[in-house]
Amino acid sequence: MKVALLISLRMSLTVFLLFLLLIPGVVAQDGWAVNYNSKSVCTLKGSALSMECTYTPPSNHSVQKAFWTKELVTSGSEPPDLSDDPEYRGRVQYLGDEHRDCSLRFKNVTETDQSKYYFIFITNQPGGKYQGAGGVDLSVTDLQVEVPERVIAGDNVTLTCKTTCSLTVRPTFTWYRNGSSLSSSTDQLHLQPVSSDNKDRYHCAVLGQNSPEVTLNVRYGPKSVSVSISPSGEIVEGRSVTLTCSSDANPPVQNYTWFKGASSVGKGETYTMNNISSVDSGEYKCRSSNEHGQKLSEALTLNVLYPPKNISVSVSPSGKIVEGSSVTLTCSSDSVSPVEYHWFKGTSSVAKGETYTMKKISSVNRGEYKCRSSNKHGEKLSEALTLNVLCEYIHVFVEYPSNIM
Ligand SMILES: *[C@@H]1O[C@H](CO)[C@@H](O)[C@H](O)[C@H]1NC(C)=O
Ligand SMILES: *[C@@H]1O[C@H](CO)[C@@H](O)[C@H](O)[C@H]1NC(C)=O
Ligand SMILES: *[C@@H]1O[C@H](CO)[C@@H](O)[C@H](O)[C@H]1NC(C)=O
Ligand SMILES: *[C@@H]1O[C@H](CO)[C@@H](O)[C@H](O)[C@H]1NC(C)=O
Ligand SMILES: *[C@@H]1O[C@H](CO)[C@@H](O)[C@H](O)[C@H]1NC(C)=O
Ligand SMILES: *[C@@H]1O[C@H](CO)[C@@H](O)[C@H](O)[C@H]1NC(C)=O
Ligand SMILES: *[C@@H]1O[C@H](CO)[C@@H](O)[C@H](O)[C@H]1NC(C)=O
Repeated sequence: MKVALLISLRMSLTVFLLFLLLIPGVVAQDGWAVNYNSKSVCTLKGSALSMECTYTPPSNHSVQKAFWTKELVTSGSEPPDLSDDPEYRGRVQYLGDEHRDCSLRFKNVTETDQSKYYFIFITNQPGGKYQGAGGVDLSVTDLQVEVPERVIAGDNVTLTCKTTCSLTVRPTFTWYRNGSSLSSSTDQLHLQPVSSDNKDRYHCAVLGQNSPEVTLNVRYGPKSVSVSISPSGEIVEGRSVTLTCSSDANPPVQNYTWFKGASSVGKGETYTMNNISSVDSGEYKCRSSNEHGQKLSEALTLNVLYPPKNISVSVSPSGKIVEGSSVTLTCSSDSVSPVEYHWFKGTSSVAKGETYTMKKISSVNRGEYKCRSSNKHGEKLSEALTLNVLCEYIHVFVEYPSNIM
């Protein structure tokens, strides 16, 4: 324990205790010692590091072989030298010498390097072998950007650059957005606030090692809500029509409500009307909502087209029609599309147009009149209107029968 007594008083108690632990090596003898500077090292994947180490062989021994290994041996056997392992060849370099320094350098650390490493030396004396117990625990970490589980549009968000172990070398962080560096040099990046259309890619880096990129999954209430109609074009009575509500939201909208005017008429992403009729004409809107909000669409005006309806004929002047007077028949019908009118007397077509005027009416004009209203969706015939012409001439004939003879 002579060497132990030489330890500088400045050395911490822990190092002292660690030193004591190292004493019972494979061969416990006065003067044998291995001292690892750190018991554990945390480093980044891909980085380089040195495991600092010192050792003391007994004064009357000369060191034949000094190397690092992953195995802690208890028997007399010799563990494999790390530099002979194909996994490590070219990536580890013994920086030590044959009497004091036993440091080891790693290059391009990989995840599989995570292990315990021990230094061992063998001297020219029989049984002259000593392995530093405890070893160095190497942890290898990568960088990950940690994003809060829920990010809602408008929130202030903090991204954190995470390692799985606490890096031994105090790192300087660099943050990137879409590959361009940002000003934050700590392990946190503050975004105040995030917008719903944030598609930026973020990553962090330490000593040239990059984390994978992350994008934020920003949640937001519906926006740009719109209604579309299928089939498009003219909607004629009797058809089936489907309205579809679409909106941009995250999470996607599950909850749709349909309105005709001010009254709610249905639920669901689509609203189907079979055998549509003119009473279905009107203004339709949909409201979409998710847990973050709701929004009403612009109105869609549905105009259901139909063949003429409610066709009727009126006569002017009303009352008795006297021969020689002028009579106008007027046809009316209900239609949103342009209509054409045709007039019939009995079965023969007599005129076109909304009105049919007979100047100087006479008995030949007696009969049944009908009007036909037609638009591009169909046609309809009116009820018959019977025209009775009162004949003054007959009246005269009755008064003066001799004149006829
Ligand atoms: C070396 O020295 C130690 C004591 O320091 C002694 O016990 C040992 O026998 C010596 N060995 C040789 C080979 O001289
Ligand atoms: C580091 O090791 C990885 C495989 O583990 C290899 O793909 C990469 O090229 C190496 N980098 C350097 C600089 O040697
Ligand atoms: C977000 O940060 C800004 C600036 O620091 C602050 O004014 C705002 O109140 C914060 N908003 C929330 C929701 O915390
Ligand atoms: C970053 O890239 C995304 C596409 O990957 C783009 O939508 C976004 O606008 C970019 N942001 C900035 C700040 O350039
Ligand atoms: C749908 O919306 C209605 C009212 O807007 C609400 O009461 C209901 O909870 C919502 N359902 C879901 C699944 O979000
Ligand atoms: C469609 O509706 C009209 C009345 O609006 C009805 O007379 C007709 O029978 C309906 N047709 C079908 C196929 O349901
Ligand atoms: C037909 O038209 C008349 C007058 O234009 C109107 O009073 C009546 O309500 C209409 N009937 C229908 C079924 O549309």
